Amino acid sequence: MVIKFVHIFVIVCGIAWCKGQECGGELDPEEYSLKNPGYPTEGNMESKYPSNTDCIWTFSGDDNTLFAFKFWDIVIEIGENNSNITCDYDFLNVSVTSVGSQLFCGWVKPEDAIVGVGSVYIHFHSDDSVNFRGFQASYSITTDFDPCDPDPCEDGECGRTEDKLKSLCHCNAGSTGEECEVDIKECDSNPCQNGGSCDEPQKDYYTCQCMPQWMGAHCEVEKGPPCASDPCVNGGICSETEDFDFQCACEDGYIGKSCEIDDFPPCFSNPCQNDGNCTDISNPAAATSDEENEYITRYNGYHCSCPPGYGGTNCDTEVGCGNPGIAYLKKRRRFNTGSILEFSCENGFVLIGPANLTCVADETWSEKMPECVSNKTLSGDNSLSPYASTMIALGAALSVNMVVFTLWMVYRGPWVKLIRRPSASTSDSKQNIHSVSISVSVMDDDVFEDEQNYVTEDQNDLESLSTRSYSSYSKVY
Ligand SMILES: *[C@@H]1O[C@H](CO)[C@@H](O)[C@H](O)[C@H]1NC(C)=O
Ligand SMILES: *[C@@H]1O[C@H](CO)[C@@H](O)[C@H](O)[C@H]1NC(C)=O
Ligand SMILES: *[C@@H]1O[C@H](CO)[C@@H](O)[C@H](O)[C@H]1NC(C)=O
Ligand SMILES: *[C@@H]1O[C@H](CO)[C@@H](O)[C@H](O)[C@H]1NC(C)=O
Ligand SMILES: *[C@@H]1O[C@H](CO)[C@@H](O)[C@H](O)[C@H]1NC(C)=O
Ligand SMILES: *[C@@H]1O[C@H](CO)[C@@H](O)[C@H](O)[C@H]1NC(C)=O
Repeated sequence: MVIKFVHIFVIVCGIAWCKGQECGGELDPEEYSLKNPGYPTEGNMESKYPSNTDCIWTFSGDDNTLFAFKFWDIVIEIGENNSNITCDYDFLNVSVTSVGSQLFCGWVKPEDAIVGVGSVYIHFHSDDSVNFRGFQASYSITTDFDPCDPDPCEDGECGRTEDKLKSLCHCNAGSTGEECEVDIKECDSNPCQNGGSCDEPQKDYYTCQCMPQWMGAHCEVEKGPPCASDPCVNGGICSETEDFDFQCACEDGYIGKSCEIDDFPPCFSNPCQNDGNCTDISNPAAATSDEENEYITRYNGYHCSCPPGYGGTNCDTEVGCGNPGIAYLKKRRRFNTGSILEFSCENGFVLIGPANLTCVADETWSEKMPECVSNKTLSGDNSLSPYASTMIALGAALSVNMVVFTLWMVYRGPWVKLIRRPSASTSDSKQNIHSVSISVSVMDDDVFEDEQNYVTEDQNDLESLSTRSYSSYSKVY
């Protein structure tokens, strides 16, 4: 009979009871039972744990690893002064990450199971004397533990309680309840004061419509008299409206709720420079209902008609052509687009190049400026004797030496080239004569700045002049 019992136990033990977990090692999730070595068996009811023994069982897990442990039996040497807290001699230390560690000894079986998540560390220790049968317990390990699956929270984030065993809903603003199933009606608490009305257009959002004299998020602030803060600037005069607002009567040239927009209407402080004329082309019909937009639309609505020689939005840019190279005109003289300059030469001189120059676009003349060249130079007829030539040259050199030099320096640009041009038949190649005469076709919008200034500093070198056309200008170099 006894033999048969032992037989059965050996078979059971061989299948599940005490498989390889006798003293420490990794806890097997497939198992469910744990006991110390030497725990009594059917065959040896008096068995006790050995002395000086340390068995350590572990299991490495995380927040998704649920561990549960429950004693079936415990008889372990109790600690000094019969303390089952200090467990000074023999003990079982059960430690789970989320729970912490607990020591067990004595003979009172704890009724509560140990339940936690994370890694597991179980340590059985015996000292060198006083041994008992030890402990036996069942345990379970679940590795896919997740209290948020399925997610119980209706309007919020699912988290865990402090012991990490249960779900805990962190509700979105505007919701409450264990599963965030309750919508908070903010307006129910009458947050708007002083007769303001409350509106909750969406979850977790409400606004207060205050009575005219009140303001603030909850209509808790009483407004002072609307004009007390002098809201009208630029000399505007403030008055109170029926709905406790202010109204500004603005001075001329200002507009806006507080008269803060100046230069209105658009031509009020004439934006057109250089004597341009301003026209208000505001289009109030295009203005939107938005007051400020209306001001801006109107403000932009002006047009400048510019005097000859000026262009741009505000007549602030010079337009037309500059001096094409006429020596005795100011360099900055400008001509309107379309102006025609007609060139001609003194008797005895021949015009080389186009007679008419047209200002075709800003800064651009149709052709290069022509030049006047002595008929003699061209024809090669040197009628002067070498003596006469020499005397003329000498005389000229003596009398106008300084002037010529200065002029030569000033006007050498286009002229130099001509002076230097070698003359095939003239023995004295320096004796070239130039003459140019310009007359300007009369156009109403010619850009002569003013007729008196038409002549440059070198007025002396012009033999005669009239307001609109120039008679011949010649110089012997
Ligand atoms: C045990 O009790 C004795 C006497 O009451 C005391 O002197 C001793 O400090 C106690 N030991 C502990 C560990 O509490
Ligand atoms: C310790 O012993 C007391 C009774 O002596 C018992 O009520 C208590 O549950 C025991 N505690 C543990 C952790 O075993
Ligand atoms: C029990 O085990 C835990 C975890 O390893 C350890 O921190 C603690 O010190 C142990 N307690 C004792 C009394 O050995
Ligand atoms: C501006 O208006 C005045 C008066 O109507 C006129 O004489 C003048 O020519 C105008 N100037 C321009 C640049 O349009
Ligand atoms: C130059 O312009 C004037 C006036 O437009 C014209 O009478 C004359 O024929 C033109 N001369 C030449 C060479 O095109
Ligand atoms: C140059 O002068 C001669 C007479 O001196 C005259 O016959 C001729 O036509 C002139 N040529 C030009 C291009 O003016």
